[in-house]
Amino acid sequence: MADKKTIRSQEEKDLIINARKPEGELGDQLLDRMNKSHESLAQWGVSHLDIAKDDVILDIGCGGGVNVERFLKMTDNKVYGLDYSEVAVEKSTKLNQAAIDEGRCEIIQGSVSELPFEDNTFDIITGFETVYFWPDFINDSKEVRRVLKDDGIMFICNEAIPNEGDERQKELIDLLEMEIYSEDEFDEYLREAGFSDIICFSKDGQDSLDKELVTGWLCVIARK
Ligand SMILES: C[S@@+](CC[C@H](N)C(=O)[O-])C[C@H]1O[C@@H](n2cnc3c(N)ncnc32)[C@H](O)[C@@H]1O
Repeated sequence: MADKKTIRSQEEKDLIINARKPEGELGDQLLDRMNKSHESLAQWGVSHLDIAKDDVILDIGCGGGVNVERFLKMTDNKVYGLDYSEVAVEKSTKLNQAAIDEGRCEIIQGSVSELPFEDNTFDIITGFETVYFWPDFINDSKEVRRVLKDDGIMFICNEAIPNEGDERQKELIDLLEMEIYSEDEFDEYLREAGFSDIICFSKDGQDSLDKELVTGWLCVIARK
């Protein structure tokens, strides 16, 4: 059992450490869990997006692939998922196999820092619960901007906002070596990466399945 200081049990830590890069059996389990636990956050976030039937969409850090599946229903054009985790690519592929067979979907293993796409390819690029782990947010956002079409949209959706003094959040940050950004930081960094028309939406996390963990919902829309 966890003592008061560690807050989470070792078993729980062994599982959630996979949020950074899901691996093996525990990674597989966590992807299943995230597909469900992030659903209401994703629905809320996506409600801020204006998606046209001919939009070409890329979801970075696609995890278990539910957002790829969602976007396939919202556009008639192609949807791509990208993740650097092998097990995430396997799961997203399995979930979206029918669309892949029809030539409407591609799931690719790769890193946000070096996107395997031509300049000006996508209308919308999304990242759900993933930017915390990107190695260099400003440069990685520049890479996202490179593969966006002119006027294209970068969309970020997070269920964590900085909460100083929150011991559980601090434990999570240390465990996952993650970076939790505020609205002001997103605004500053995305501007530095060359984006404009940056809009943030936020909400308390009361609709989240994991209320104890979630400090609030935040989504960001930025235009190339
Ligand atoms: C917390 S999970 C979120 C998965 C999914 N988007 C969701 O909302 O359920 C973070 C995902 O981002 C991926 N990821 C983290 N850093 C990445 C990077 N630098 N390049 C590509 N994928 C990355 C991880 O492998 C993982 O699948």
